[in-house]
Amino acid sequence: MPFLVKVAEAMISHVDYTRYHLIGHSMGGLVARHACVCAVENDAEWIGALTHSICLGAPLGGAPLAKAVRGASAALAKLLRLQEGGGAHALHQADWIAGRLSGRFDVTDENNALKTGYDPVAPPPAGVRGAAGAAEVCEFSYLCVPTPQGDDGSADLSYIEAVAREIGPVLPSEAVVVNKSTVPVGSTRVVERVLGRDDVVVVSNPEFLREGSAVHDFLNPDRIVIGSDDQSAAVRVASLYIGVTAPIIVTDPASAETIKYASNAFLATKISFVNAIAAVCEAVGADVKDVVLGMGYDKRIGHEFLKPGPGWGGSCFPKDSRALVHIADDAGYSFDLLSGVITVNEDQFHRVVAKVRAAVGGPLDGVKVAVWGLTFKARTDDTRDSPAVRIVELLGEQGADVRAYDPAVKGPIGGVVPLSDPYSVCDGADVLVVLTEWDEFRWLDFDKVAGLMAASRVVDARNLLDKPALERRGFTYVGIGR
Ligand code: UGA
Repeated sequence: MPFLVKVAEAMISHVDYTRYHLIGHSMGGLVARHACVCAVENDAEWIGALTHSICLGAPLGGAPLAKAVRGASAALAKLLRLQEGGGAHALHQADWIAGRLSGRFDVTDENNALKTGYDPVAPPPAGVRGAAGAAEVCEFSYLCVPTPQGDDGSADLSYIEAVAREIGPVLPSEAVVVNKSTVPVGSTRVVERVLGRDDVVVVSNPEFLREGSAVHDFLNPDRIVIGSDDQSAAVRVASLYIGVTAPIIVTDPASAETIKYASNAFLATKISFVNAIAAVCEAVGADVKDVVLGMGYDKRIGHEFLKPGPGWGGSCFPKDSRALVHIADDAGYSFDLLSGVITVNEDQFHRVVAKVRAAVGGPLDGVKVAVWGLTFKARTDDTRDSPAVRIVELLGEQGADVRAYDPAVKGPIGGVVPLSDPYSVCDGADVLVVLTEWDEFRWLDFDKVAGLMAASRVVDARNLLDKPALERRGFTYVGIGR
C-alpha cells in the first residue's frame, strides 16, 4: 500500500460554506490518495463521525474501512444538505462516493450499513481535534476557510489569517500548507508571512467545485491548478490527486490565485452576456433558446453557462466578481468590462420585476404574486445572494403581496415566510413567477394551478416551463428572451 497521507483540513468556523468546502476536499483527498482525514474545530457534530471513522493512522481495509466509509458517507450526506430539500441528490452523491470507495477497497458486504449507520445528533466521539491539533501531525494542511466580502467589496482575509496564526507554531518541519480558499492575488505570501516558518511551504490550489455537486466535481475536474514557487512542494500536492484524471497546471502562486477569480468572472460574464442577448431577442422578436443553441455549437463558445435567467447569484460569483474588480483597481487597472457584467446582472433583477408589472398590466401595489423558487439555483438550500430573494424583495417594495414556495427553504427570507406547497401560493394569485429552476416545478398540475389562480399568468424567469402546454391551458406566458 502506498504511504498513508494525513491531510488536515484546517478550519476555524461552523459556517455552512466551510462545511461544503471541507467535505468536498476531505472526500476528494480520501479517494485520491487513501488519505487520512483529521481536523477540525467547533463542528464536532458531523465531522466527529468522519474523524472518528477515518481516524488517524487506522489501517485501511476490512471493517475499519467500512466504518470509515459509513461515517464519511453520512457526514457527506449531511453536508450536502440532506435534511432539507436537495436530499435525494445529496443521498445519491453520498452513496455514489461510498460505492466508489468500497469498490476500490473491496468491502462490499459491509456496504449496507451505509444506509442506516449514522446518527447526526449523537454526541461527537472523543478525540476530535482543533485545527492546531490536526495540523501538528500532518504532512499537508488544507486551508478551506471562507473569505467573505468586506465592506468595500474586497475579500476579508481574517479567517485565513487566524487559522494560519493558529497552526503556524505547530506545523511539522517540511509541512505543506495548501490554500483552497478563494483569496486575492498575493495572499499565498500573506499566509507565508503569518505562518512565520521558513521550513514550511504554502501552495495555492484553488478549487472549482459547484455547490451541490462538489464531490462529483472534485473527482472529475476539468483541471487541477497548483501555484507554488517550490517545484517539489507542487509535485507533492499534485501527487495527492493520483487517481483523478485531469490536466495539472503548475504555476506561480499569483497566477493560480488569478485563475480562480478569472474563471468565476468569465462564467459570470457569459451569463450576463446571454441575459443581455435575451433582452436583444425580446426587442427584435428572436427566441434566445434557439439563439443560444446556434451559438453553443461553435466549439469556441460552447453550450455551458449560457442559460438566461433572473441573474447570477450565490456565495461565489457576486463576491468574487466584486473582489476581482477591487483587486484590479488596487493594482491600477479599471476593470470596466467586469463592472459592466455586474451592472447587467443587477439590472436583470429589475427586468424580471418589470416583466411581472407588464404581465399584470400595471403597478404591483396590492397585486397577489405567487413565487416558485427562492434558492440561488436548484439542488441547494442556499439563498445567499440569491437573485430570487432579491426579486422577491423588489416585488415587496413595490407593494406586491408575495407568497413563495421553495422545496428547500422553510424559514423566512426576503420579507416572506415560504408556504409548504407550490399550489397554496397560487391560491387567488394574479401572476405566478418562477425564479429557481427546480425540476419538480415542470411536473406540477397546471390545470389545478389555473383553477387556483385569479388570473392565469406566468412569468418564467428560468425558461423552465413548457410554454406551448401552458398556453394551451389558457395561460399568458412570459419567459426570458422569447
Ligand atoms: C461557482 C462556479 O461554477 C464554481 O466553478 C466555483 O468553484 C464556485 O462558484 C466557487 O467559486 O466556489 P456555484 O456558486 O455553486 O459555483 O454556482 P453555479 O452553478 O456556478 O451558478 C452560479 C449562478 O449562475 C446561479 O445563480 C445560477 O443559477 C446562475 N447560472 C448558471 C445561470 O443563470 N445560467 C447558467 O447558464 C449557469
